[in-house]
Amino acid sequence: MTATVLTQTTAPGVLQITINRPDRRNALDRATYGGLIAAIAAGEADESVRALVLTGAAGCFTSGNDIKDFAAASGDGARIAIDFLTTISTAKKPIVAAVEGFAVGIGTTMLLHCDLAFAGRSASFRLPFVTLGLCPEGGSSHLLPMIAGSKRAAELLMLGEAFPPEAAAEAGLVNAVVAEGEALSIALDKARALAALPPQSVALTKMLLKRGNAAVVAETIALEARHFGERLVSAEAQAAFAAFLMKR
Ligand code: COA
Repeated sequence: MTATVLTQTTAPGVLQITINRPDRRNALDRATYGGLIAAIAAGEADESVRALVLTGAAGCFTSGNDIKDFAAASGDGARIAIDFLTTISTAKKPIVAAVEGFAVGIGTTMLLHCDLAFAGRSASFRLPFVTLGLCPEGGSSHLLPMIAGSKRAAELLMLGEAFPPEAAAEAGLVNAVVAEGEALSIALDKARALAALPPQSVALTKMLLKRGNAAVVAETIALEARHFGERLVSAEAQAAFAAFLMKR
């Protein structure tokens, strides 16, 4: 396990997974994706774990993919991100997200694959794929219009503007907006409640809830990934990454 992903059993049956790269606003570099994949797999394999909680350290969920990795990417540069999306979207145990601060890019799209999500009042969401010369990922081009409606999805995915937690709740990305700093304790409460329920029944219900979309989600993640890989090395995207990195 890398130091950029921390795991702890916070309550019986509850595994908390914390993205821990605060100096980069918890941006996901390859090692962090690897740590997340390993942490989810470990939770899935451990019979004593009944629910996972996903959160970010230091009052920030995640600023999304590390832009330095994007800038250095070859056509297959997003492979480990796709592996992470496959892992989280096919997990059998319930996943509860706790969002404070920034949830950018994949920081927002991964919420589409969590069963429950709670956001602190000052959380800020953004899907800046087009702004960066990229395209939607994580199955969001299918799931977001489905849950938020096509106009709302176009607004969020095409304009790429930041939006507040109330809008995230309206779009169906989070269950509820809670007081600032309270998202984790509420997520842990819900995870404890899930962990106390009959695990086979919980897993069966999760499977049934996801079944109707499972094939199209997998197909969409793969299709988006092909386009995303091509966009990463495009002049539009490389100029956007250079502009972000130059401001630093
Ligand atoms: N990739 C790489 N580095 C990142 C990063 C990312 N996604 N997000 C933040 N960082 C780095 C910054 O470069 C900065 O580094 P520095 O201290 O060496 O200058 C540090 O983390 C702090 O970020 P900063 O921008 O100063 O913090 P902020 O609180 O003012 O803004 C964000 C936070 C998340 C709004 C802003 O950093 C941002 O827009 N990041 C990019 C998000 C993004 O486009 N992700 C990809 C989505 S597809």
